[in-house]
Amino acid sequence: MGKHLNVLDFAALKNSDRKISMVTCYDFWSAQLLDRSDVDCLLVGDSLAMVMHGFDSTVHADIELMALHTRAVARGAPHKFIVGDMPFLSVRKGLEPAMDAVQTLMQAGAGAVKIEGESGHLDIIAHIVESGVPVMGHLGLTPQAVHGFGGHRVQARGEAAGRALAESARRLADAGCFALVLECVPAAVGRCVSATVPIPTIGIGAGPHTDGQVLVLQDMLGTNPDFRPRFLRHYADGFGTIQAAVNRFHADVQEGSFPRREESYA
Ligand code: KIV
Repeated sequence: MGKHLNVLDFAALKNSDRKISMVTCYDFWSAQLLDRSDVDCLLVGDSLAMVMHGFDSTVHADIELMALHTRAVARGAPHKFIVGDMPFLSVRKGLEPAMDAVQTLMQAGAGAVKIEGESGHLDIIAHIVESGVPVMGHLGLTPQAVHGFGGHRVQARGEAAGRALAESARRLADAGCFALVLECVPAAVGRCVSATVPIPTIGIGAGPHTDGQVLVLQDMLGTNPDFRPRFLRHYADGFGTIQAAVNRFHADVQEGSFPRREESYA
């Protein structure tokens, strides 16, 4: 089981050879599993709107939903550093609603919040940091802006866009973010930003040179065999394994081999 990280460890890891691993976690059940794993950090990502609730984008995660899942994860993974996603538009309606959302997530058990983008809400990010709440930035393909991007597409292609992303990353570091997710950007951009910002970068579809990697748990476990974006590696045949187990149970029930006498009460 990995050591329980705190926010200061992230800074130290930036200047070490050791990479940061983060996976999403949305519920008590998987939190209990992950609490005993070596993974460094759990993200209660707003991707839960899609993975757990079947919506077509993360836009549908609101603060009540995020808090509900964060509380469940915090109960299941007391030894892990937990980051909670600030939901769609929560930092775009002014300081007070943003701080209310931060308060809700932190009181639900998060140890930090993650915020997508920076342009137009950098002052709010700085205020959250100054309030003693660690903030993880998120640049590149920021899924809450999927409608503006015209779909889930690789971002920061081309020199000017790469430079703009690097400048955003620098502003987030200056505002006090302790780490930065880079999602779906060319590997060269992932490398350049990671080499130039003083905070650790955690990539998803950002190539091998970031200071850490994050994946959605259900995706890396292969629970949806048809979801195979280029950046994703399946670490298990979750779909096949679960189907086989459930079908075996069904067959055992049909043939009367479950339960056995020793699985029954006298
Ligand atoms: O919500 C999420 O799962 C995320 C990760 C993909 C970084 O933000």
